[in-house]
Amino acid sequence: MRFHKIAGLPALAVATLVLGCTGQTLDEIVGEEVATLVAPPMVPPPITRDHATKVIVNLETEEHVGRLADGVEYTFWTFGGQVPGTFLRVREGDEVEFHLNNRPDSRMPHNIDLHAVTGPGGGAASSFTNPGHSSVFSFKALNPGLYVYHCATAPVGMHIANGMYGMILVEPKGGLPPVDREYYVMQGEFYTEGAYGEAGLQPFSMAKAIAENPDYVLFNGAVGSLTGDNSLQAEVGETVRLFVGNGGPNLISSFHVIGEIFDRVNVQAGSMVSEDIQTTLIPAGGAAIAEFTLEVPGTYLLVDHSIFRTFNKGALGMLAVDGPADSAIYSGQLLNEVYIPEGGAIQEIASEPTAPTAMTTEERIEAGGRVYSQNCAACHQPAGQGLAGAFPPLANSDYLNANTGRAIDALLNGLSDEIVVNGETYNGVMPSLRLSDEDIANVLSYVYSSWGNSGAVVTPREVARRR
Ligand code: CU
Repeated sequence: MRFHKIAGLPALAVATLVLGCTGQTLDEIVGEEVATLVAPPMVPPPITRDHATKVIVNLETEEHVGRLADGVEYTFWTFGGQVPGTFLRVREGDEVEFHLNNRPDSRMPHNIDLHAVTGPGGGAASSFTNPGHSSVFSFKALNPGLYVYHCATAPVGMHIANGMYGMILVEPKGGLPPVDREYYVMQGEFYTEGAYGEAGLQPFSMAKAIAENPDYVLFNGAVGSLTGDNSLQAEVGETVRLFVGNGGPNLISSFHVIGEIFDRVNVQAGSMVSEDIQTTLIPAGGAAIAEFTLEVPGTYLLVDHSIFRTFNKGALGMLAVDGPADSAIYSGQLLNEVYIPEGGAIQEIASEPTAPTAMTTEERIEAGGRVYSQNCAACHQPAGQGLAGAFPPLANSDYLNANTGRAIDALLNGLSDEIVVNGETYNGVMPSLRLSDEDIANVLSYVYSSWGNSGAVVTPREVARRR
């Protein structure tokens, strides 16, 4: 609790303050307004008022089946219809009249604990709301900062794991420094009965949640919610402010933007500003405000630097930056040539040429599944769905199904040219994995027999012919 000093204030300033019953000074409330609600990753505009007011918040709890990843659905419980919940923006000193409305078609009661509240349960004790009911309580925004809110109805962990978290910004009285863009990003884990990418409507797994072993670690509630066409946008020369939260329910985030340095971070979203930060720790139920100016165009990746979460569990976002290059800051690639270690010859890690084994198609596909999980799944994902904007899908892939020859070539030689898969352009680099003819035949037979592909069978003899 913060006690504002009153002694020594000029008489005119005192006139705008009233005494609370415990003696702390409270700002006089002038007028009222209804809170602006916008969907993430956007936030309401900065507050321009120079006085406290009554802010009326109408927030609806809503349960729905939605997309967790391509082909994977989940029953989300939400504040405002999406994950994370609607971003709320008030000013230090405001009185917030909070209306929590639980839709009639909800199956569960819900409530809300806002970390910006000074009071029992952060409001939870006053906001337990059955389906088809509304609750109202009010609180004074005493402390500036960026605060997490979440449902606190039992089983609390399950309500949070199903998506019931969001953030409220209490702007300091002088406001935040102006920036060009503000975005709202919130990390959270999902625990599903099936493994990552397993298709269909996935139930919540209490066992995995208790073990703190999520299948998905995500930004903004779905794989790909901030990638490809959903990427955050900015221009060279602009300053971006990210309001980053972590709903948990279990993990701590090591939040990092690949290719940028945070010029300023409000550490743990409080009043202390730290400069020149590479990775900022965001506890479960905590937040950070990160600001940086963009000097170089390109795609910047938002990640949890516990990096398997990014490349294997979905915690990947993108910031697409347009504008002129600046070779004085970043040159881009100046050279790419074959590297031959001193005194050595070109090393070929060719596998021993072995005579192809006699295998049935089923055996070939089964062996190929093992090759796939060891060599391909990390990038192309366990169910071949790829990663939007980064790794092309192998599932239902027009690129693969049109031509087995170029699929063999890609595995033999790698790929560095731009390719188009299912209408999306990819221009990453796939290394040559130096697999044997037999492994290449097996893994391609596995891929072609999976995920809606053509069913083509590739033999070691065909691979050998193209080597
Ligand atoms: Cu709830």
